[in-house]
Amino acid sequence: MSETARSRAAYLAHLRRDRLAKGDPIPVPLTMAAIFHTPGDGDGFNQYGRYSNTTWDAVEHMLAHLEAAPCVAFPSGMAAISAVLLGLLKTGDRALLPSDGYHTTRALAERFLKPFGIAYDLRPTSTFLDGGFDGYRLAFAETPSNPRLDICDIAAVAEAAHKAGAILAVDNTTMTPFGQRPLDLGADIVVAADTKAMNGHSDVLFGHVASRNPDIIARVIDWRETVGGIPGPFEAWLVHRGLETLDVRFDRMCSSAEVIARRLKDHRAVNGLRFPGLENDPSHNLARAQMERFGFLISLELASQDKAEDFINKCALMQAATSFGGVHTSAERRSKRGDAVPPGFVRLSIGCEPVEELWQAIEASLEKIGA
Ligand SMILES: Cc1ncc(COP(=O)(O)O)c(C=O)c1O
Repeated sequence: MSETARSRAAYLAHLRRDRLAKGDPIPVPLTMAAIFHTPGDGDGFNQYGRYSNTTWDAVEHMLAHLEAAPCVAFPSGMAAISAVLLGLLKTGDRALLPSDGYHTTRALAERFLKPFGIAYDLRPTSTFLDGGFDGYRLAFAETPSNPRLDICDIAAVAEAAHKAGAILAVDNTTMTPFGQRPLDLGADIVVAADTKAMNGHSDVLFGHVASRNPDIIARVIDWRETVGGIPGPFEAWLVHRGLETLDVRFDRMCSSAEVIARRLKDHRAVNGLRFPGLENDPSHNLARAQMERFGFLISLELASQDKAEDFINKCALMQAATSFGGVHTSAERRSKRGDAVPPGFVRLSIGCEPVEELWQAIEASLEKIGA
């Protein structure tokens, strides 16, 4: 971890310190309010719950500290992605999306961008740079892509996109700002589903948009205020609490994933394992160059759909669940969500359990399925 990242992690839980008056609670208070005391004319204070809320301010302050950029919070990752795609693009524009990223982003483009006359094309993440960006208003990358964990070179994509007059948004959900820093690599926008590792406790949906471009932030705030897709204060409060432990959780999850990926790779039952941290993974060199950690997601293939289901269901330390990034190790057979992967393809999200106990449970489950 770089000195800046260590300092960012150290100060994350102390951001409120300088604002505290004597007797104020140290944990952030939860402000449940649709209306505020607003006699007379005025500006610069809370007016109405669709415009602002002090619990959002607190979580956005933490997010901004992590991203080193202004951040706007949303009630889900998709709400953040929608704010970028629908808030920044207009009729006649063209966008480039990953063909192998989170499937709902493609659904949004097909079902809601296209009818408004916003065209889009799809390109695989591993060759996202190929073909250039001429004619695009916005390129949207997801790296590592969910669920296959392919990677594109963010700095090279940003440079080529900018030369062609496009802006670059990166979905950083799988990495968090402790694992990868797209804005530092030249991206204009980061979007993330804080539903995953950022909150980390799988009890809330949340998202954010980060950008160092004030016009983009103003437009995204205008979108949130006008469309009304606002985060609930309680959700913001939960994410605030989750973020306080992001550094320790993410560190444990990534370290454990490095151990477990290596052992799974050598297991006779496992085929086609992908983890950017393994030296022979197609993503490894790029991952080493642009990521701070290799992440906590592992994708692997078992011989059949039944074996994959049994592997997940028979493992005492694994939850069968969609989503990822929680403190509990979880896994899902992704073809059941419509991803273009073989029936035995499993996306495994390593949690915070002690690594040797977790490995024993994973190995025992592989034995149980007779693999
Ligand atoms: C990479 C990625 N981006 C965005 C999302 C959407 O997040 P949410 O479910 O919070 O809307 C997900 C959800 O799985 C995701 O995996």
